[in-house]
Amino acid sequence: MRQKIVAGNWKCNTNVQEGVELAKAVDSIVAEKGADDVTVVLGVPFTHLTSVVDAVNIDRINVSSQNCAAEAKGAYTGEVSVNMVKSTGATHVILGHSERREYYGETSEILNKKLALALEAGLTPIYCCGEALEIREAGTHNEFVVKQLEETIFQLSADDFKKIVIAYEPIWAIGTGVTASSDQAQDMHANLRSAIAAKFGEEIAEETSILYGGSCNPKNASELFANKDVDGGLIGGASLKAEDFIEIINAY
Ligand code: 13P
Repeated sequence: MRQKIVAGNWKCNTNVQEGVELAKAVDSIVAEKGADDVTVVLGVPFTHLTSVVDAVNIDRINVSSQNCAAEAKGAYTGEVSVNMVKSTGATHVILGHSERREYYGETSEILNKKLALALEAGLTPIYCCGEALEIREAGTHNEFVVKQLEETIFQLSADDFKKIVIAYEPIWAIGTGVTASSDQAQDMHANLRSAIAAKFGEEIAEETSILYGGSCNPKNASELFANKDVDGGLIGGASLKAEDFIEIINAY
């Protein structure tokens, strides 16, 4: 069955102690209020992974890194491998976030290496895609985002593709307070699902979770999640406050 997922992406925020407090707060509210059938993921900085895994009940809360190295191991100073991430108890890895593509030159070629390593290590990739404002304004967003998929996750075998979670994050909506409208989100998600169906078949397309990200907050989450092709969210700013994040989890 297609999973409903609400994932936080803390980006480069909180120190370890603050992160542990935040994770504990999310965990205890989820324990108290429940998260129904929603899979909750916290995307935390590398430095926080072990402490956050230890601080939460991992049956309730999944922990994710926000990146991984494109090499398995070796002389790559400062890099963090999939094996290191996996050994912390983390289960997911966010890959291809637009901030990494834009600020760190992450290309499809690099992403393909990371995807292969993550899958081999048994981590679930949360694969991000999305267009810049100029592309949206030019009206070529549907083709643009499908091309991102064609260059990366569509290169995978069907068995590996089934392990991927997709997050559609229009760049113009990230951290701007401008959310995609419910219709804009649904249109893109339906577009992606039909591209997946054309590539891997209806059944796999129906099973793929496609999250929305970009200024999603407690006020707009219910409307976004009510769309039939929106299976949850990847939440930046609003995941840094436990109460807001929980409201989004409970927005279904
Ligand atoms: P905001 O929710 O802060 O717009 O960030 C979205 C995002 O980039 C999540 O990965």
